This record gives sequence, C-alpha cells and structure tokens, in this order.
Amino acid sequence: MPRAAKNIRNLRSEYPKDEILERGLPSNPYKLFEDWMNSALKSVQEPHAMNLSTTTRKAMPSSRIVLLRGIERGGFEFYTNYRSRKGLELAANPQACLTFFWFELGRQVRAEGKVRKVPAAVSDKYFASRPRESRVGAWASDQSREVTDRQTLDERFEFYDRKFRGGRIPRPAWWGGYLLVADRMEFWQARMGRLHDRVQYDRKRNGRWAMVRLMP
Ligand SMILES: Cc1cc2nc3c(=O)[nH]c(=O)nc-3n(C[C@H](O)[C@H](O)[C@H](O)COP(=O)(O)O)c2cc1C
Repeated sequence: MPRAAKNIRNLRSEYPKDEILERGLPSNPYKLFEDWMNSALKSVQEPHAMNLSTTTRKAMPSSRIVLLRGIERGGFEFYTNYRSRKGLELAANPQACLTFFWFELGRQVRAEGKVRKVPAAVSDKYFASRPRESRVGAWASDQSREVTDRQTLDERFEFYDRKFRGGRIPRPAWWGGYLLVADRMEFWQARMGRLHDRVQYDRKRNGRWAMVRLMP
C-alpha cells in the first residue's frame, strides 16, 4: 500500500482538449446531458455507470455505483432493491446526488434532486427485459443484508432457480426503479492548464433553467 500511495501522488493524466462555451449551450440541461452521453457512448466504457449518493435521516452520506437505465419522465432512471441500504436511505431522505465521470472525454456531470419510485408497471417491464440469471438473482439476494458465507448465497440462487424453472419470474415487490428528478445539474469539462470549464443549471420555480459558470 505505501508504494501505491507514492505512485498515486505522481500520477498526472492528460485530458482531451474540449471546452464549454456559453454560446450554443442548450437552455435545458437534459439536452446537454443527452449530447454528452451520446459522445460517451462512442468512447467510454460503461458510460452509464454513475455514482449515487444518499444519506441517512441524520445526514450521514453513503455512495455506490449504479447503472443509468433511462433518461425518461424528466429524470434519471436506475434500478435496485428497495430494501437495500440505498433503498432504506432514500425512504428516509429522498434527496440524492448522481455523478458521472468520463475519463476519456475529461468530463464530469453531477445531478442533484429528489428521487421517487417509478410506476410498478415501468419496473415490471424493465424487470422482464433482464436476463433470466439477473431476475433469479434479484430474488436470491436480500441486497445489503449479511450472509453467512458464499455457499449460502449460492444455495439461495439454486432455490429460486429451481422454483422458477420453466415458468415466468415475477418482479419481487421490493425490487424496482427510481427516478431522480434533477433540480440542479453541473457539467465539468477538463481544460488545458487545469482552468477547467464548469456550468451549472438550476431549475427555477417557473420550470425554466438558469445557467451560471462556476470557477474550477
Ligand atoms: C459498474 C457497477 C454497476 C452497478 N450497477 C448496479 C445497479 O444498477 N443497481 C444496483 O442495485 N447495484 C449496482 N451495483 C452494485 C452497487 O454498487 C452496490 O454494491 C449495491 O447496489 C448495494 O449498495 P447499498 O448496500 O449501498 O444499497 C453496481 C456496481 C458496479 C461496480
């Protein structure tokens, strides 16, 4: 570990040279996100992997990576176990934050807002589209709970695998989608010389967005 610490201290990455200029920026940040995601889909591995930060009722934060599965219904859609740690934290405090980091483009996007569950029918449809193994896994894993050992987990999988063999696998009621509806979004673009570009959009009461530039 000490060697790793020494090596990270000297790590210097060169980011691609792009820029954000106010001229030509869309008035809606979802449009800009869509443009950036389209670029990321061409050059970034797992561009839909995003950091999700939640907090407990006492404001203790926790973060983890989840996959973006849609930019629909005016928000960012992701799927998980409603009884997981993040699910319980979102029930206690629905305010959350998402962060994307696209190294290959030198870009970061942050979205903050309120999270709500997507309608059950939407979760049903997405659940049905997942590979069988993932659907069985959703039943087998009480996500974020302790398990005695690996064997116990494998046995749980085998139990549900057998139970649903040859039949339809319903969506567990405790598994489904969330939508984060952003009221603030920030776009960060690495620039040469470390004076990076940052623009922040805030949703106003009338539903329109106000955009400002932030210092890096
Ligand atoms: C690349 C990547 C993608 C992931 N995607 C998801 C996901 O879409 N949904 C999910 O519940 N967990 C996903 N995970 C696992 C989570 O990071 C996390 O371990 C899990 O959801 C339990 O988190 P929690 O205990 O904080 O609730 C992913 C992990 C990685 C590294």
